[in-house]
Amino acid sequence: MTAPASSPPPCAGLRIGDTAPDFEARSTIGPARLSAYRGRWLILFSHPADFTPVCTTEFVALAREAAAFAQRDCALMALSVDSLFSHFAWLRMIRDRFGVEVRFPILEDPTLVIGRAFGMVGAQDNDSATVRTTFFIDPAGVIRAMTCYPASLGRSVPEMLRILDGLQAIDAKGALAPANWQPGEPMLAAPSHDLDDVYAATDIAGWFLRENEDGA
Ligand code: BEZ
Repeated sequence: MTAPASSPPPCAGLRIGDTAPDFEARSTIGPARLSAYRGRWLILFSHPADFTPVCTTEFVALAREAAAFAQRDCALMALSVDSLFSHFAWLRMIRDRFGVEVRFPILEDPTLVIGRAFGMVGAQDNDSATVRTTFFIDPAGVIRAMTCYPASLGRSVPEMLRILDGLQAIDAKGALAPANWQPGEPMLAAPSHDLDDVYAATDIAGWFLRENEDGA
């Protein structure tokens, strides 16, 4: 079997559990350094380009929900190859057209140095217009989840909040979040690794599939 000749797909650069690589860049709120966000949650996300339809709807939706991320002690940080002045012009247009101010930082990454470090673009790829990646980074700087969408599909802000809520609840309760979990719903207990528990369970699946003890 031969290895595929193409460059790695977006999201292939880093894995869940990796420490997010540090960087510094110019942003719409001044110089930004990833490691300055240690101690709080951070969602770092790339968008294909300023002044494009789907990206504009994403930024409007995220700016409208900025307080919901702040309530969860989570900062937002966006990134694209566009220049700082392109970002400024786009944000001014968004404010005037949609009545919402984007106050979270948007970084410029004209050389793709950050995008490549995070696997947001293929290693040999000079075209950044295919990436819509999102990294959920915990207060220790560890990547806990990531998503990767094509340019043609906008992200879901409720799903971004659900992922953040899920990760925070997992840490707070030492429990697992089942399919379609929403905040306040029961979580699952981690399965036993003890054969005695397997034989002692009254229900055939009870040793590995049961609600977390506090029922949440
Ligand atoms: C958009 O955000 O609408 C978009 C960006 C890049 C390519 C195509 C669409």
